[in-house]
Amino acid sequence: MSNTVIPLQRRKFAQTTRQDGWWIQPLAIFLGLSAFIVYANWAAFQGEHYHWGPYLSPFYSPELFGDSPHSMFGARPSWLPAWVSPALLILWAPAGFRLTCYYYRGAYYKSFWGDPPACAVGELRNGYRGENKLPLIMQNLHRYFLYLALIFLLVLAYDAWKGMWFKDAVTGEVSFGVGIGTLVLITNVCLLGGYTLGCHSLRHLVGGRLDEMSNSPVCQKAYSCVSCFNARHMLFAWLSLVWVAFSDVYIRLCSMGVLSDWRLF
Ligand code: FES
Repeated sequence: MSNTVIPLQRRKFAQTTRQDGWWIQPLAIFLGLSAFIVYANWAAFQGEHYHWGPYLSPFYSPELFGDSPHSMFGARPSWLPAWVSPALLILWAPAGFRLTCYYYRGAYYKSFWGDPPACAVGELRNGYRGENKLPLIMQNLHRYFLYLALIFLLVLAYDAWKGMWFKDAVTGEVSFGVGIGTLVLITNVCLLGGYTLGCHSLRHLVGGRLDEMSNSPVCQKAYSCVSCFNARHMLFAWLSLVWVAFSDVYIRLCSMGVLSDWRLF
C-alpha cells in the first residue's frame, strides 16, 4: 500500500476553519485582565483611602510601613520615596503568583500574545522557545511564589479577624461586631483560599511528587483535597481576582465617605 505525504501548511495569524465563536473567550479574558491591571495599578499608586475603621484593603496588606493603625513597622521611613505606597512594597508577590499561575499563563498567552489565540487557529509567532530562556524562564518561580501566597493568605485571614473589632470613636472602647466590610474581607479570604489551595504546584507538593501515594494516607488525603479545588481553579482564579478588587473599592469608598459601612451587629 502506498503512503501519500500531505505537507502541513502554516496558517496565517487568526486563520482557521473553525466555525464557532473561538475569539469570544480570548477577547473576554483580554478585557477582564486589562480592566483589573488598570484598576490595580491605579489603586496601588494612590497611597490613601486604603483603610477604614478595622478594615484594610487587601491590596495594601500586609502594610509594612504606613500611617494606618495596621502598619507592622510603624510610619513610613524618610528614605522611602513619596511615590512608593505601602501597596507597591508588597504587591509584587501576589502579582508574581498570578502571573506565573498555570491557568493564567494559558489565558494570557492566548489573549494577549495570540500564541495561539485558540486551538487550531493560526498564531503570531513562527518559533517556540519554550520556558528555558528569559523572560519565560521566570515562570519556573511559581513554586516560590506559592510559598509567599500561603503566607499572604494567613495575613489576609488575620485582617478579616481584625475586621470584627470596632473601636468606638468617643470612648475608644473596642467591641466585637460584624459589618458589611467584615463579610467582604471574609469572602475575599475564602475565594483566595480556594484559588491558592487549588494550585498545581501545591498539588505536586502535597502528593503528586510521590510514586506511590497509597503508602501515605495523609498525602493522599491532602492530594485529593487540593485536587478538589484544582478542578475549579479557573473559577476561583476569576472570582478571587474580581473580589480582591471589589474589596479595595468597598473600603476606598467607605474611607472617602461615599459609602457608609452597615454594621450588622
Ligand atoms: S497553578 Fe494557578 S496558582 Fe498555582
